[in-house]
Amino acid sequence: MKELFKFHENLQELHVNTLPDHNYFIPFLNGEDPFQDREKSGAFEILNGEWDFKFFKSFYDMTDDELLSERYSEKIPVPSCIQMHDYDKAQYTNVRYPLPYNPPFVPDDNPVAVYHRKYEYINDGLERILTFEGVDSCFYLMINNQLFGYSQVTHGVSEFNVTDALHEGFNDITVVVLKWCDGSYLEDQDKFRLTGIIRDVYMIKRPVKCIKEYKITASFNDTYDKAMLHIDLKSEVGVTIKVKDPDDNLIKEENTSGSSYVDVTIDNPKLWNAETPFLYKIIFETNDEIIGENYGLREVTVKDGVIYINGQNVKFKGVNRHSSHPDTGAVVSMDRLINDLVIMKHFNVNTIRTSHYPDVPEFYKICDKLGFYVVSEADIEAHAQMDYYQAAKNKDNIIMSASAGVFEKAILDRTNKLVIRDFNRSCIVFWSLGNESAYGRNFVKAANFIKSIDLSRLIHYESTWLNVDNSGLDCLDMTSYMYPKILDLYKEVKKDNIKPVFLCEYCHAMGNGPGDLEDYWTAIYSNDKLAGGCVWELTDHAVIIDEKDGKPVYGYGGDSGETMHDYNFCMDGLMYPDRTPHVGFYEMKNVYRPLRVYTEDISKGIYGFYSSLDFVNFKDYYKLCFEVKDNGSIIKEGEIDVDIAPHAYTTIHIPKLTALTGENLRVRFIIKLKKSLPWMEKDTELGFDQITLMESFRKYKPARIKGKKLLNSSESDREIVVKAGDCEYRLLKKTGMLKSVKKAAHEYLAEEGSVNLFRSPIDNDINDKQEWLKFGLDNPITKMYGYKIVDNSEEINITFDFSLTCINSINPADIKLNYKFFPSGDVKVTIEGNISEEISFLPRFGMRYKLDENFEDVVYYGYGPMESYIDKHQSSYVDLFSTTVTDNYEPYIRPQENSSHYGTSYVKISDEKYSMIINCDDEFSFNVSHYTQENITSTEHRHKLNPNALTELNIDYFMSGVGSNACGPQTKDEYKLTDKDIKFSYYISLEKK
Ligand code: GAL
Ligand code: MG
Repeated sequence: MKELFKFHENLQELHVNTLPDHNYFIPFLNGEDPFQDREKSGAFEILNGEWDFKFFKSFYDMTDDELLSERYSEKIPVPSCIQMHDYDKAQYTNVRYPLPYNPPFVPDDNPVAVYHRKYEYINDGLERILTFEGVDSCFYLMINNQLFGYSQVTHGVSEFNVTDALHEGFNDITVVVLKWCDGSYLEDQDKFRLTGIIRDVYMIKRPVKCIKEYKITASFNDTYDKAMLHIDLKSEVGVTIKVKDPDDNLIKEENTSGSSYVDVTIDNPKLWNAETPFLYKIIFETNDEIIGENYGLREVTVKDGVIYINGQNVKFKGVNRHSSHPDTGAVVSMDRLINDLVIMKHFNVNTIRTSHYPDVPEFYKICDKLGFYVVSEADIEAHAQMDYYQAAKNKDNIIMSASAGVFEKAILDRTNKLVIRDFNRSCIVFWSLGNESAYGRNFVKAANFIKSIDLSRLIHYESTWLNVDNSGLDCLDMTSYMYPKILDLYKEVKKDNIKPVFLCEYCHAMGNGPGDLEDYWTAIYSNDKLAGGCVWELTDHAVIIDEKDGKPVYGYGGDSGETMHDYNFCMDGLMYPDRTPHVGFYEMKNVYRPLRVYTEDISKGIYGFYSSLDFVNFKDYYKLCFEVKDNGSIIKEGEIDVDIAPHAYTTIHIPKLTALTGENLRVRFIIKLKKSLPWMEKDTELGFDQITLMESFRKYKPARIKGKKLLNSSESDREIVVKAGDCEYRLLKKTGMLKSVKKAAHEYLAEEGSVNLFRSPIDNDINDKQEWLKFGLDNPITKMYGYKIVDNSEEINITFDFSLTCINSINPADIKLNYKFFPSGDVKVTIEGNISEEISFLPRFGMRYKLDENFEDVVYYGYGPMESYIDKHQSSYVDLFSTTVTDNYEPYIRPQENSSHYGTSYVKISDEKYSMIINCDDEFSFNVSHYTQENITSTEHRHKLNPNALTELNIDYFMSGVGSNACGPQTKDEYKLTDKDIKFSYYISLEKK
């Protein structure tokens, strides 16, 4: 048998004995409702479930006897990834091929997974179409131990008409899946490399003569009040075609005797778009079968560099989505798939790129219903080749699939599979030729092929920057970028005759970030040619490596024992693997909000509103609530209907927002869903704007307590002790740091603190952290030059002069640190830093206190409740928040700086009886944590973190922005701490309840 298994190393034999590709549909038996779930169809037999299984480490070593023996001691679920069931092992690589680049050949030690089940056939005159929705990487199909066929393309459907190979009674279906095949060179997507039968397997029963295929398209008049539906039907039997409108009224019924072309005129059509996904029903009925198709009428066009949907220029508020779940790897159940889509609706997403392969066919049907624009991508990525090519001394030595003749058939096959299967899905607005595979004549052929059959969508492809044979770009409908510099977007749109600009990936959401969402959208809103884009990416990808407290413990590259891997680069999503959103997801949600509020005339209560909705009036779906708070307490609330056309700006007078008085008055406008939708509850919050009405934060002044006798200082060899009222402060002469802080003899500190110029590197610090480490910012050594105590009648002033130093380096900073003690017990800390010109920028500048671990309760006035940074506070707002040190933690799977609060002016941190209060005249950033910076920095997985027995409090003059530099552009200079001369003061006050 094995000698027949020759196709997996032959780029010209891609599918053997498969049926031609056609549009996806599941027929129902005549009399059934064809709009039900496909499982309800009498013609559909799901073959998922437990299959017999055996595994061979090496195709080369496997003998025919072993392969053909009926001994199956093991079972495995179909669909599944074998690596999730302890065969072979998971491997995470991004760009690099996990196999030698030797096309069309693959390693001899190619793991083989053999699946087997019985299938009972009763000769009822119907054919049996055995269907595989996806097998990674390829498979040989055997029916009753005879080779029946072969197929590949992991995320493509393969159908076999197996009727003639079946006999009455039980038959053997055996599927021999190889880990590698020549197709693997086109499946170099950044993902866990997991294989097996990864998508559904089913049998469809069909009459010998039946409907084969149909393509539906639509055209429109200029004013969109007339649509023409075109149905191109291929059938071997007579068909009754019915077309019904979204309200189920019959528009047209037509009988055909076989293949035909039917046009249906629709007056005043209800058009499909992501906001109002109206679907018409098209029903195909034969004597035996009935097929139901939902179809949305929509048009995608380009004019002068602008993309229009139904004549309206739209912004694509998108996300990239891989099929992945930590429990099941590449397999995603329908419930989980729907859950992902519903979550995206809650986060204002209107566009999904199926990175980097087509999703399951049902995915697109759900997108049609929920309303998403989809960029459907071909199952093509040859990323490693681009690296080889760029590095090669002689580029001719590298076989590039973009241009090499030997790959042409495979590229066209994958393009064909992409377009033909989902041709009728209205949600698909762009076809993507693939990802990161360079550009060349094979892609031009692929694009031209698409144009020859489908002019109703645009073609996207990004890798043109590596054009290996000077191919023309005319066949592509847009200019696509990944992670561009924002400034470049402004420059790009100034050029003449440009194509629409689409960001197929931007705002790399790895770890603590992204910090550039709002800046990208400021650019995108500035010009209609900037069509929007898709954030990289929806979820972190993980393997489950353990269980702790009944919850899965997540691992990444390297945690499955693989030696070649790309570490935590798979942890770059907007959600944790279990779909808990990261703060970055909330950031994106608010940047994608449907309405933005501006101030026009605060005193008169006049506000401006911009609707970024493309099709519906805001008031038809949403309402706007507002709440005014003074220093964190609500003083007024209300609700308004904002009657505003798509893309319109309007001003509204809100009398309730006039004549308000207070100290720190801020109004928050909150967008809420007006009426429940099938996937979203009424009143769901969809975004907000906060506007400051009045800001008069009083400068903190220590209570004026006269009494010199309340204040005194004393010195020992190593310490200076200051007593102020019932407070006592001990300062270390060696470092200038507070070693002990007491009120009424109650100790606050667990350890001495430090000047802090470092942060636990976030993933986006990947490029900058080397410099910080070079200057020893993570662990500076204090060189003390001296101190001075000035004791006057009203206060005691102590000033330390020192440098922060680093072995084998020039000094990163010179510091002057002044403490001013008042009779009230308060102390004003002033720190001045002179930072070395050699350091490009600091992650932060501030002071760190190590309080006793019982200091747990936190109240602050600043940006919360989520973590916030200078470039990441779109999802937070200024308010008086209460939290705890334990809760002030964002559990990134690879631990890193998290949970700072930007724009703070007040923090109070308390144990059961005592509080420390920080007041500042200027806004600062603070952070509290039970994990030390050192612990977070040196721990690779969150489950290994150990809360230290203390509370670390950071008070920062400035915390640099987080950006998205792990893959994206550098963080803007204005978000970085580039100051060289820094002066920062704050008050510490101690309180007892
Ligand atoms: C892009 C690529 C994605 C992913 C990302 C980094 O270049 O298209 O698949 O690898 O970088 O996370
Ligand atoms: Mg890649």
